[in-house]
Amino acid sequence: MLQKDTNQSVIQVEGLGKTYPPDFTALKKINLTIKHGEIFALLGPNGAGKTTLISIICGITNPTSGRVLVKGKNIISDFRATRALIGLVPQELTTDAFETVWATVSFTRGLFGKKPNPAFIEKILKQLSLWDKKDNKIMTLSGGMKRRVLIAKALSHEPEILFLDEPTAGVDVELRKDMWALVRGLQETGVTIILTTHYIEEAEEMADRIGIINKGELILVEEKATLMQKLGKKQLSLELQKPLKQIPKALADFDLELADDGHCLIYTYDTTAKQTGITALLSKLGDADIKFKDLSTNKSSLEDIFVNLVKETT
Ligand SMILES: Nc1ncnc2c1ncn2[C@@H]1O[C@H](COP(=O)(O)OP(=O)(O)O)[C@@H](O)[C@H]1O
Ligand SMILES: [Mg+2]
Repeated sequence: MLQKDTNQSVIQVEGLGKTYPPDFTALKKINLTIKHGEIFALLGPNGAGKTTLISIICGITNPTSGRVLVKGKNIISDFRATRALIGLVPQELTTDAFETVWATVSFTRGLFGKKPNPAFIEKILKQLSLWDKKDNKIMTLSGGMKRRVLIAKALSHEPEILFLDEPTAGVDVELRKDMWALVRGLQETGVTIILTTHYIEEAEEMADRIGIINKGELILVEEKATLMQKLGKKQLSLELQKPLKQIPKALADFDLELADDGHCLIYTYDTTAKQTGITALLSKLGDADIKFKDLSTNKSSLEDIFVNLVKETT
């Protein structure tokens, strides 16, 4: 069994760019290090460049600039060695319709130069509830079952790194649960997992680290726990009777922002702190003779952080 050592980098993406002909820039100078044994979620809206990025790492798409190393080896000059380390569950359903489940999964293992191992194939088919379908032709399977076959294929050669491209977009609840159990089990054996998603909840539930990508730019990479601390922040919005041009000096100690042309004063505070500072703020506002009509609070969610980041880079 592999040891989990998240300090060691397993993938290094350096200055990676991709321009689709004639001149559409899908990725702009991406720098990213994936750590051994982590679950990394690449989160971003449709068209952000997620599939392009993982297709390059998996050697399906050529980069325009920059380079990628997988366990220190270049994905282009050492393609066979790096590709053999990787399992990819693609976003689109692509399977050989006329083959049986057993044949296609066993064949895929062989493609990566691995010796046959029927016991291992049996194990993954059982894990994916595909065992009783092993002799069925792929074309007779439902969409959910076909997706399970894609996962089995991706795992057939015992990869150290698993990419899942939008694994749960449009899949049923049962498959989603099975998939997450499987992913966690793989992580325990030392497999590094990179998933793409446009669902914030998915990144939140599964990932150790989250990278946010928008319009081909990686705009944030952070430990999920750190992002969650940001989620622990709350905002108090005060609707002012008279607009302010700037934040008065007397209030400089507070984390304040003006919004709505100075009609709204927003105070951000940490819900995990001993004191929120609200009482002190309200008393200072009284001293400065700043009156408000209404007040409300809201908790910032990953959704807000995401939307704000995406807005900033647009
Ligand atoms: N083969 C291609 N030729 C031209 N443009 C492409 C091609 N593949 C993807 N794109 C464009 O690149 C952008 C990023 O696509 P993609 O990587 O699939 O995004 P995501 O997976 O985040 O939805 C999109 O605007 C898409 O239309
Ligand atoms: Mg995609």
